[in-house]
Amino acid sequence: MKKFAVIGNPINHSLSPQIHSEFARQYSIDLTYEKIMADDDISFTSTIENLINKGYSGANVTLPFKGCAAKISTTRTSEVDLTGSANTLCFDNNSIAAHTTDGIGLVNDLIDKIGSISNSSVLLLGAGGAANGVIPSIFSEKISHLYLWNRTIQKSFDMAEIWHESFKRVSVMEKIEFNKIDIVINATSAGVDDNSLSPISLNDCRKEIICYDMMYGKQTAFLKNARDNNLTSFNGLGMLVKQAAASFEIWHGQKVESKSVEESLRSSLV
Ligand code: ATR
Repeated sequence: MKKFAVIGNPINHSLSPQIHSEFARQYSIDLTYEKIMADDDISFTSTIENLINKGYSGANVTLPFKGCAAKISTTRTSEVDLTGSANTLCFDNNSIAAHTTDGIGLVNDLIDKIGSISNSSVLLLGAGGAANGVIPSIFSEKISHLYLWNRTIQKSFDMAEIWHESFKRVSVMEKIEFNKIDIVINATSAGVDDNSLSPISLNDCRKEIICYDMMYGKQTAFLKNARDNNLTSFNGLGMLVKQAAASFEIWHGQKVESKSVEESLRSSLV
């Protein structure tokens, strides 16, 4: 039986064991998948060593260890190199191959929910690991422009400078101009540990704009603000399931049916 785990801090809330068990059932694959909490980068690294020694096949990595996972890996995909973030590790003897599936999870969910995003103009809110981690996948869809905005706006300028080396159509939107945007993606952690307001007000938003929050499991102020304005909006549950589907495919070489898994999770979370 193949063994897998997800490592993070906090980790209790993780739905990954449930999702991977559902996927495994689709192919009658026997596997174990557990949640492991690590305190810091040192304990994360020793947990990985432990898993390798115990013959685990791979691990998912969640906050705050995605950067560390990228660093300690033996090989990295180009997307891991670009983003400095890894959420899927494959163990083979003593080597660790790092992948990141967050971006493909987001993009596949956007395509599933609204159709193609190519030629769309996207505003990405945030400048942390979550925002940076999805940028190459957003660009791979041939969007028309990526605007960056962050509460601490200097970080957006720093980010734009870095990403501009690989993608020319990226710039900072210091003052929000909704007429230039088709899709707004919230990749900030606003409202996770506090009751803060939406990072930007959507009250003057064009009605056609799609609002997507990478968070799931609780209604963020961003999504509430979108719903109060009758805007089309989605939370990140579909992204979660689809990034897991991409991890599953890396580990098992099988494409899963993710829609039913997302629907059953959505009804159990309501
Ligand atoms: P993650 O790895 O999840 O991206 P992070 O690196 O801590 O986490 O980044 C959190 C992001 O959420 C940052 O862009 C942060 O903005 P600042 O750079 O200004 O701190 C953003 N953020 C957190 N709380 C916020 C709030 N109340 N309003 C707007 N943005 C917020």
